[in-house]
Amino acid sequence: MQDEQNIKNPFASELCDYVQDRKTFYCMPGHKQGKGAPAFLKKAWGEKVFSYDITEVRRSDVLAYPKKELKYAQERAAEIMGAARTWFLVNGSSAGIHAILGAIVKPGEKVLVHRECHKAVLMGLVFSGAVPIYLEPVPNLPEYAYGSVDLQKVEELLGKHDIKLVLVTSPNYYGISLDVAAIAKICHEHDVLLFVDEAHGTHFTFHESFPMQALRAGADYVVQSMHKTLGGLYQTALLHSAGTSEFFDERVDHMLSMLQSTSPSALFLMSIDAALEEVHQKGEELYGALIEMLEALRGQLNTSKFGVVVPPDGVLSAGNFSGFDPCKIIFRSISMDEVNLIHIKEALSESYGIEIELAGEDHMLLTLSVADAVDLERTKKNLIHFAKTIDKLFTAGIGYVEEQDDFVDHRELPIFELTPRDAFYAKKRVQQISEAEHLISASMVCIYPPGYPLIIPGERIHEAAIHKIYHDHAKGFTIIGITEDAGELFIDVIEEPVK
Ligand SMILES: Cc1ncc(COP(=O)(O)O)c(C=O)c1O
Repeated sequence: MQDEQNIKNPFASELCDYVQDRKTFYCMPGHKQGKGAPAFLKKAWGEKVFSYDITEVRRSDVLAYPKKELKYAQERAAEIMGAARTWFLVNGSSAGIHAILGAIVKPGEKVLVHRECHKAVLMGLVFSGAVPIYLEPVPNLPEYAYGSVDLQKVEELLGKHDIKLVLVTSPNYYGISLDVAAIAKICHEHDVLLFVDEAHGTHFTFHESFPMQALRAGADYVVQSMHKTLGGLYQTALLHSAGTSEFFDERVDHMLSMLQSTSPSALFLMSIDAALEEVHQKGEELYGALIEMLEALRGQLNTSKFGVVVPPDGVLSAGNFSGFDPCKIIFRSISMDEVNLIHIKEALSESYGIEIELAGEDHMLLTLSVADAVDLERTKKNLIHFAKTIDKLFTAGIGYVEEQDDFVDHRELPIFELTPRDAFYAKKRVQQISEAEHLISASMVCIYPPGYPLIIPGERIHEAAIHKIYHDHAKGFTIIGITEDAGELFIDVIEEPVK
């Protein structure tokens, strides 16, 4: 292991020393420490940032085969996060998800997948050729959020199929965490590895008020985005192993060397190293103060039009959840009919310079982080101003819709005819969505927010999904995986032989 004085920010410190003096570069990158960078960007970003945009110079080590500073930095990250091994990712949690699927599940082998997963999981199934057995969510949360998993069902499916890996997402977008410890116990009784997509819970390690982090709860592999709730640059993430299998850890090494760039910018790697060390040093105090302030403030954020929702204990304990993230603030409209809060989100952005995490029809989600703990008084003032602003906008008629909406969001597990990989390679045709019921989808349809797949390639398109597409399209939500032409919506379906 590295020597004492080098223990903090092993990679970021080394690179800072290295770029102190201007170098003569007869090697890549083409901008040569910014000398040849576009003038526009030099003005916007400053020149200094380019000097750190290097890779594989003598003192930067090699991400795919780390021997020095990157090895130390990843060891330090593992130590901070309580992992046996940690890998730095420069293509987000997505790369970690693909690597784990590719490393652990051979083409044709089975993986138990939480149906409410991120699309990166489904892309990973296309790459890896793993055969998904989908685990239906239990609809025990308000319909905007997602449900938990039925532990008995996990048990039953592990008994019935030869499953190599269980993959669940926890916490969800709203910060609600599954009971990972209970899922891990079942997996391990069946000798199956558990992988948790903890992209939204990277900060859980740093304060006891957060739900228990998945590694501590017994997961074998965990992926976490560094950019979602911590101070890493976009694209940065961590993949952890609990050390259950050296054999699979080595496969992960190989997979990541295939999936990640051979020229990762030191900007990303330094940002992981530095952000992690800083939150390790200061996180407990900062989160403690932020959570305390939010607890005291929550009641004051209720207005005549919006209530701040906290998942009640009853919901959490009854539904195989382990807790929720107090840094998520959910505002819900009190008059739930006749509202569409995406209009308020737009108005906040355009007229007030306020960006929020997401808005659905009847709720809005705010994500707070350590950045909001730096000046607590200001954060408090801003949140009170936010609550007053949405109230004002709503009173002025923004977010209010005239027509009564009796749409009900049914969630049923459809019939899966093909794996995502087989669907990807199958012959396709374009079909008007209104006539696509019972056909097999070749598209992955995701509705933003929050972007989880509504239709997965290979599934028979369900009537409820068609209704949801038309409903959410009319409400102005962004839908990917469909096309629009002359006011009609289309989807790619699999060409099936005529019976
Ligand atoms: C649950 C979940 N998993 C994985 C990802 C992918 O993470 P990244 O953007 O770091 O690749 C996301 C992104 O939004 C997500 O919400």
